[in-house]
Amino acid sequence: MNTTQYRPCDLVIYGAMGDLSKRKLIISLYRLDKHNLLEQDTRIIGVDRVEQNRDDFVKIAYQSLQSFLNNTIDEAIWERFSKRLSYLKIDLTDPSQYQQLNHVVDSEKRVMVNYFAVAPFLFKSICQGLDACGVLTPESRMVMEKPIGHDLKSSQEINDVVADVFAEEQVYRIDHYLGKETVLNLLALRFGNSILYTNWNHNSIDHIQITVGEDIGIEGRWEYFDKTGQLRDMLQNHLLQILTFIAMEPPTNLSAESIHAEKIKILKALRPITPRNVDEKTVRGQYTSGHIKGQSVPGYLEEEGANTQSTTETFVAVRVDIDNWRWAGVPIYMRTGKRMPNKRTEIVVNFKPLPHNIFRDSFNELPANKLVIHLQPNEGVDIMMLNKVPGIDGNIKLQQTKLDLSFSETFKNNRIFGGYEKLILEALRGNTTLFLSREEIEQAWIWVDSIQSAWANNHTPPKSYTAGSWGPVASVALLARDGRAWEE
Ligand code: BG6
Repeated sequence: MNTTQYRPCDLVIYGAMGDLSKRKLIISLYRLDKHNLLEQDTRIIGVDRVEQNRDDFVKIAYQSLQSFLNNTIDEAIWERFSKRLSYLKIDLTDPSQYQQLNHVVDSEKRVMVNYFAVAPFLFKSICQGLDACGVLTPESRMVMEKPIGHDLKSSQEINDVVADVFAEEQVYRIDHYLGKETVLNLLALRFGNSILYTNWNHNSIDHIQITVGEDIGIEGRWEYFDKTGQLRDMLQNHLLQILTFIAMEPPTNLSAESIHAEKIKILKALRPITPRNVDEKTVRGQYTSGHIKGQSVPGYLEEEGANTQSTTETFVAVRVDIDNWRWAGVPIYMRTGKRMPNKRTEIVVNFKPLPHNIFRDSFNELPANKLVIHLQPNEGVDIMMLNKVPGIDGNIKLQQTKLDLSFSETFKNNRIFGGYEKLILEALRGNTTLFLSREEIEQAWIWVDSIQSAWANNHTPPKSYTAGSWGPVASVALLARDGRAWEE
């Protein structure tokens, strides 16, 4: 998957003083450096409109590590890392100012990787500035991440702006979930194990659940979040990406083209949600005040900067049907929310019950097998199975047991890298497999737009749920209607 030749790069971060850069990019780059994964003369150029010099930027990078690294800073590594950093003050809205890049970037010897860590309204001027200053070559890359629009139309506009300057193969669209070890492990589980491969379809699987719960709220991002909502912030991207990895057909190989092609087929097969079925197939929720891990937390409408009339959802649950041969009749239930009891990202594959029960002494109804994939925290895979309880007296007695593979136990000597580390490295290496193609993003929007417009059409308000719970009761009813329950 990552056989591409690794070349020194000039990584230019537009919006270097922003949240994404400080919280994620600087930290990930430092960690990559620490593990000797950055080429020796790869450089990092921060670009922003803030008036400051290199030393100020280096100081800010250090403070970012102090705040977000969750580990002590290794001063020797920092010393090496900080030498890579430089800073350019550019008003990102003014294309004429990008000429300055010519004095810093060396596109002849290094690959220029342009990381757009800014809001999409700035993409046009950045692209125009880069084009006009002549610093780009066919080898240059551009990296962007969500939000890539708030619907199909706006995402097409953003993609068009970028396509004026960068060819599709130069564009790296990030979904940081695709950098997570356990999401990639889905490929290994599904296509490396015959026991799963042969059972991965409607013959053996009853239904699948995907839960992406966070205990945090909106973390001071009211303005962004309120315009976006949980459907667009999480489900349109992270959950649908997980879904495509679970549901896609086996790709011919691990190339970007093969994987993208299979993912797109799944996105196209998602049954649209309509105003007629939206209330039965989806649940919108918004948290009210409550308690999480013993701390009281405010409701969404009491968060800092809140508009108290907001009807934005902070929780969404959906029943997804995939209209293809493999998944006919197998619902996939997805839920994601803020202010849940804990952080938990998990996939539960529920297998069909056996046709006949010969162990009635133990169970009236034999519990079906379950494959539980823990994406975060505590990465691992469990299989719930029935086993005989040891003993020689009387009847055979069964008990539900867990075959348990914990990554931290099994792969003790392998560090689990974060999503951003993996994806930044892949972008520096020029490997597009784990990035999203334009078509994928647009197909995902088509389906999500069907939900958003059905909600708008029906004026479906969010149902409230107490912070610290797993969402509105309607979410329980969503599965109960089908005779099922969420895995708790
Ligand atoms: C981001 C969303 O994409 O993902 C955030 O904008 C969310 O709202 C975050 O908190 C969750 O990511 P992770 O890696 O912590 O699960």
